[in-house]
Amino acid sequence: MSADTPLTLPAGAAADWTISQGWENYTAEDHQVWLTLYERQAKILPGRACDAFIKGLDALDLHGAGIPDFERISEKLRALTGWTVVAVPGLVPDEVFFEHLANRRFPAGNFIRAADQLDYLQEPDVFHDVFGHVPMLTDPVFADFMQAYGEGGRRAMKLGQLHNLARLYWYTVEFGLMDTAEGLRIYGAGIVSSKSETIFALEDPSPNRIGFDLERVMRTPYRIDDFQQVYFVIPSIRALLEASLQDFGDIYARLPALPDIPIEDILPQDRLFTRGTQRYAHRGGRLAAA
Ligand SMILES: [Fe+2]
Repeated sequence: MSADTPLTLPAGAAADWTISQGWENYTAEDHQVWLTLYERQAKILPGRACDAFIKGLDALDLHGAGIPDFERISEKLRALTGWTVVAVPGLVPDEVFFEHLANRRFPAGNFIRAADQLDYLQEPDVFHDVFGHVPMLTDPVFADFMQAYGEGGRRAMKLGQLHNLARLYWYTVEFGLMDTAEGLRIYGAGIVSSKSETIFALEDPSPNRIGFDLERVMRTPYRIDDFQQVYFVIPSIRALLEASLQDFGDIYARLPALPDIPIEDILPQDRLFTRGTQRYAHRGGRLAAA
């Protein structure tokens, strides 16, 4: 994930912001945090995460003990789809992020959250980045989509359209749902790496669940601080790739004149999977629950 505010290259990082993962520096407690998070997700993801994600976990052997060594998972990933995982100290500037994706490198934070903050994340850590994102990169079609997104990001920066493109990433790579013959499944990294959002995204009556439409998504703001009020449902990974390969020029030409769509609105042309009650958001979300 990239950052909205200017960042400074940290001491010791290469020009592309990569650092050594420093796998040997993780403590027993760090590995235990990974295991705790891993085990609680492993219990709830079967039947909720899409097949590509579950297969990816197996293919990368992420079931093993503790925080994975990026070199080992990169070896497996490179053989499958040509992607690798590189360590970064945290959020990186947009242009650096896109450059990595366009070259099939996924930048992952090397630190892990504290044991007493399992559900609190200020910045994406190694569990979010590796457990959440990397399994989907074993799917050849999703792997192509992520590269295309990186290339699209470089173009969007030149055109001043990053704001709209970031919504595509948010509502797919981070918080996407997929329609399957077995029902709705999750594939977004922000969901699959979170116990509470795994349940909320699929089973809570509160959020709207709406069929994916590229331009519609680009006009929809999102929440960074709480569960989503709307999730967008792709019909397949292939459909997502195809949407991302179209020429965005026409959409970018139209968007400045079009207003944002309020986050909980449902449009007449929306393909509606669930009309949410919005009860969770209207009751104050996490603020009310705290
Ligand atoms: Fe992420």
